[in-house]
Amino acid sequence: MDKIIIKGGNTLRGEVEISAAKNAVLPILAATLLSEDKCTIENCPMLLDVFVICDLIKSLGAKVKIDEESGLTEIEALNIKDCEQIGDLSRKMRASFLIMGPMVSRFGKFKISLPGGCNIGTRPIDLHLKGFKALGASVILDHGNVEISANKLIGNRIYLDFPSVGATENIMMAGTLAEGETIIENAAAEPEIGDLANFLTKMGACIEGVGTGTIKIKGVKKLIGADYKPIYDRIEAGTFMIAAGLTNSNIKLKGVNEDHIKPIIAKLTEMGMDIEMDNDILIIDGRKELKPIDIKTMPYPGFPTDMQAQMMSLLSCVVGTSVVTETIYENRFMHVAELKRMGANVKIDGRSAVIEGITRLNGAAVKATDLRAGASLILAGLEAEGETEITDVYHIDRGYVEIEKKFKMLGANIRRIKE
Ligand code: EPZ
Repeated sequence: MDKIIIKGGNTLRGEVEISAAKNAVLPILAATLLSEDKCTIENCPMLLDVFVICDLIKSLGAKVKIDEESGLTEIEALNIKDCEQIGDLSRKMRASFLIMGPMVSRFGKFKISLPGGCNIGTRPIDLHLKGFKALGASVILDHGNVEISANKLIGNRIYLDFPSVGATENIMMAGTLAEGETIIENAAAEPEIGDLANFLTKMGACIEGVGTGTIKIKGVKKLIGADYKPIYDRIEAGTFMIAAGLTNSNIKLKGVNEDHIKPIIAKLTEMGMDIEMDNDILIIDGRKELKPIDIKTMPYPGFPTDMQAQMMSLLSCVVGTSVVTETIYENRFMHVAELKRMGANVKIDGRSAVIEGITRLNGAAVKATDLRAGASLILAGLEAEGETEITDVYHIDRGYVEIEKKFKMLGANIRRIKE
C-alpha cells in the first residue's frame, strides 16, 4: 500500500489545473446505460472509482474504451446481458448503486448487492427505494441483495425526506424513460446533479427545475448517445484553496466555476483570504493572518460536507476557537484522531467539534481513514513542522488525480512511496 511523505513548511506558488468532478462523472457514466448508442465522456478523471464503475458497466456487456492519457471514455451499452446480479461490486463502491435507475428504466429489472455503509456513516438507500416504489417498481430485499423490477415505470410525485444527492440522481435517471411525468420534491441541488441533467438532456431527456428543489422529468420513449465534458471538481478546488491558507501562499487554480464554490469562497474570505476570479482561473492569497470561524455543513448551496475535514485542518492552525458542525453524516470526524496526533487541539461534542487553533502542527505518522480525511492529512502535513507519513492513501486516490504530483508542481516537499 502506497504512502505519502511530506516535509511541511514550503510555501506554494504557480498554477494547477483542477480535474473533472468525480461526483459528476460517476452518475454520468451510469446514465450511459440508458441508451444503446455510443456515449463519449471527455476528460474523465482517472480515479479508482471511475475504473470501478466502468468495470461494472463492462461486466453487464457494454463496450467500454478508456484513453488513460486524455481521459476520453467511450461507452456503448447496446448488448447488455440479462439483468443478472453482478456480485458485490456495489459493496465496493456505493456509487455503483447509481446504475439501478438506468437499468430498471431501460430493462425493467435489476438485482445488485446492497451498497455497504462506509467509514463516514451507514449510508442508507431508503429514499432511493421510496422513489422506485413510487414509480411502480417492486423492491425485494433478500440475502443482502436488492432486486427492483417493473413492467413499466409510471411517472409520479416523490417527496425526498432529505435532499439526497444519490436518490435525486437515481430517480431522475429512472424517470427519463418512465411513462408520464415524474416530480421530485425536496430534490438535492448540488452542481453535479445539474451536470447529470445536462448530459441526460443531450441524450434527449426532458428535465426541468434542476437546482430549484423541485425537478420535473417527462418520460420519453428512447434516449440517444451523446458526447459530454463534465464540470470541474469543486471539492478538489476547495482542497487546494485551503492549502493556500495553510502554507501562506498565493496560487492559481485553473478550471474553476465560481458559482459552484460560493460557500467555500464565502467562508475562506470571512477568515481573511483574498480570492478573485480571472475567467475560469481562481487566484487565492492565503498570506494574511487568518481568523477563526464556525462551519456548519449543509446540503448545497450550504457549506459542503466533503470540505469539512479539509477545513478542520486549516482551523487547527488558526489561533482562536472555531466550531465545526457536521449535519450530513453521523461519523465524519475520523480525521480528528489523526490530526490530534499532529498536535491539533480538537474536542468532539456529538455532531460538533471545538477547535482551539495552534500556531504550528507537528509532522507525524498518520492514516487516511476515508477520502476527505486523507486529503485533510495531506493539507496538515504541508503546514506541519517536520515530516508527516500518511498510509492507506488508496482512500485518497479514490477522489484525487495524482494529488501529490499537483502539490509537488506547486513547490511542496511531497513524495509517494509505492509499496
Ligand atoms: C454524494 O453521496 C457524494 N458522492 C458524497 O461525496 C457527498 O458527501 C454526498 O453526496 C453529500 O453531498 C457521490 O456523489 C458519488 P446523499 P450520496 O444521498 O449520494 C442520507 C465524497 O467524499 N440518506 O446525499 O451517497 C445519508 O445517510 C463523497 O466525494 C438517507 O438517509 O449522499 C446521508 O446522511 C462522500 N437515505 C445523507 O443523506 C437515502 O436513501 C447524504 O447522503 C440516501 C441518503
